[in-house]
Amino acid sequence: MHLKGQTVVIFGGKTGLLGQALTDALKKAGAKPIPLSSSDCDILDPTKVERLLEKKAPDLIINAAAYTQVDLAEDEKELAFALNATAPPLLANMAARLNVPFIHFSTDFVFKGDKKTPYSIHDEQNSSSVYGTSKAEGEHNLLKLGYELTLIIRISWLFGPGRANFVEKILGLSETRETLTVVDDQTGSPSYAPDIATNTLALLEHDATGIYHLANSGETTWCGLATAAVNLAGTDCSVEPVPTSAYPTKAVRPAYSVLDLSGFIQTTGITPRKWEDALKDYVLNDLKKRPTS
Ligand SMILES: NC(=O)c1ccc[n+]([C@@H]2O[C@H](COP(=O)([O-])OP(=O)(O)OC[C@H]3O[C@@H](n4cnc5c(N)ncnc54)[C@H](OP(=O)(O)O)[C@@H]3O)[C@@H](O)[C@H]2O)c1
Repeated sequence: MHLKGQTVVIFGGKTGLLGQALTDALKKAGAKPIPLSSSDCDILDPTKVERLLEKKAPDLIINAAAYTQVDLAEDEKELAFALNATAPPLLANMAARLNVPFIHFSTDFVFKGDKKTPYSIHDEQNSSSVYGTSKAEGEHNLLKLGYELTLIIRISWLFGPGRANFVEKILGLSETRETLTVVDDQTGSPSYAPDIATNTLALLEHDATGIYHLANSGETTWCGLATAAVNLAGTDCSVEPVPTSAYPTKAVRPAYSVLDLSGFIQTTGITPRKWEDALKDYVLNDLKKRPTS
């Protein structure tokens, strides 16, 4: 689809890390984004969602809203499943009634992480966490609904401007600590939110449907990502590797969750830039430009 002039409702677009990047990218593409927070429209309230969509009559609906607190989800299973598994097919159903495309985001955490090579879209979903299982069920419910204009994009390890994220937290800590210990036995592909947003629009321009994997190119560990960020920021802090067992968390995370991007590259002809180049943009441009309080 051509995005210029199109009205796009984005659930999670006002306050979400990815949603804000999508809103910016859509504005740059000449579309008319309508970014929403949970107080504008609660996706757990079908009547409100229906009224809003009828009023706005969008040409495209994007769901960047989700329950994203991976550890808390272990204690808030019902809420995680309501947002991540039950709400997406209700939104897709409304998109079907309006006959407009529906874009939904999922996660590398749908995989258990026991592979040693990048996960393809055909690999089995076998998450060990409530969050991952709830996101997998959301995908399953969307596929079961079978609305043909549905695009599901799995992304991983998101960082970028607009909302707290791993890189920002590490850089904050590095300003006051001499040493930081970071997990070095979980490997994944960092994703810069503005790159995910631009590449999502590329998929839309190619009328992509079904499931795609999207991230920046390359892979690293959380320790590798933290080290690269601290080096770019030039803070006087040493980052040291530790095993996952040094930081027990409530939710079990995949040891390996690199996503195979070949479907995206084939459809769009675009190879996402390396995570190191995207990180440079974030640390040296986005974070440096941020007003200090
Ligand atoms: N962050 C990552 O590392 C990562 C990795 C892989 C995949 N993903 C996926 O990428 C997508 C975007 O993630 P993100 O990190 O950008 O999320 P995020 O920053 O945590 O934002 C979540 C958004 O969901 C909205 N939301 C929550 N409950 C809602 C409700 N009941 N009704 C309407 N909106 C509601 C929030 O609005 P309020 O602020 O108003 O509550 C917020 O805008 C999600 O599908 C996530 O699973 C994220």
